[in-house]
Amino acid sequence: MRTPIIAANWKMHKTTAEAADFIGQLGSELKHDTVEVVICPPFPLLCRVNDVCREKGLRLGAQNMYWETAGAFTGEVSPMLLKDIGVQYVICGHSERRQLFGETDQQVARKVKAAFAAEIIPIICVGETLQQRQAEQTAAVVGEQITIALDGLDPSQVRRLVIAYEPVWAIGSGLAATGTDAGMVAQQIRKLIGEMYSLRTARDVRIQYGGSVKPNNILEFMSEPEIDGALVGGASLDATVFAGIVNAVSGARRE
Ligand code: 13P
Repeated sequence: MRTPIIAANWKMHKTTAEAADFIGQLGSELKHDTVEVVICPPFPLLCRVNDVCREKGLRLGAQNMYWETAGAFTGEVSPMLLKDIGVQYVICGHSERRQLFGETDQQVARKVKAAFAAEIIPIICVGETLQQRQAEQTAAVVGEQITIALDGLDPSQVRRLVIAYEPVWAIGSGLAATGTDAGMVAQQIRKLIGEMYSLRTARDVRIQYGGSVKPNNILEFMSEPEIDGALVGGASLDATVFAGIVNAVSGARRE
């Protein structure tokens, strides 16, 4: 049985004071005993958020990192540094990194390997653009992103990783995919991992949906058998709204 995982990707938002307020409020509103909740703040907030996250049983995630352990890489952050301050998850290959900063599938693959080497679980983002979707290339695009990102990993690593299926056109647009469409892509992802590794390995991989997730649509995604959680952007910035998403998931599991 896969534990649901709901992650907040704050992107480039919040100050330290706002982050501490958020966590305090979230802690009092959450009934998340059956859901793993990960908060991914910007780098400068990681330490502060970690202090408050720990008290509330929340996990800490970073939004990005470099793959080298140390060295002359001005402006970059290593997996070791993240591990050192308590980071447990790292988002790799978010579409904003791919589109705005030119990150390639090969670079994502290096980050994924480096994350495992530092004992941090990667949340690997994949997803098609609107143009690719309209050209019916979703399965091919996502398939290639997964194949390259997982290249060289061993089954015990694959079993622990998280895939976030985030169609680019659904991010920040208010236009979420339908549960059925997202569920179908999640099914294709699991099938592909099954072919690359084994059905047993594929069965353990957690697959999130991301893109305009809100409290009123989260259950549409969670009712899909192959979707195990969500990567939430805009709706993760308000503690009450984000708690609404997590509580909907844990409530549905208790029913
Ligand atoms: P939104 O939830 O704002 O659409 O963002 C999704 C996302 O990019 C999460 O990583």
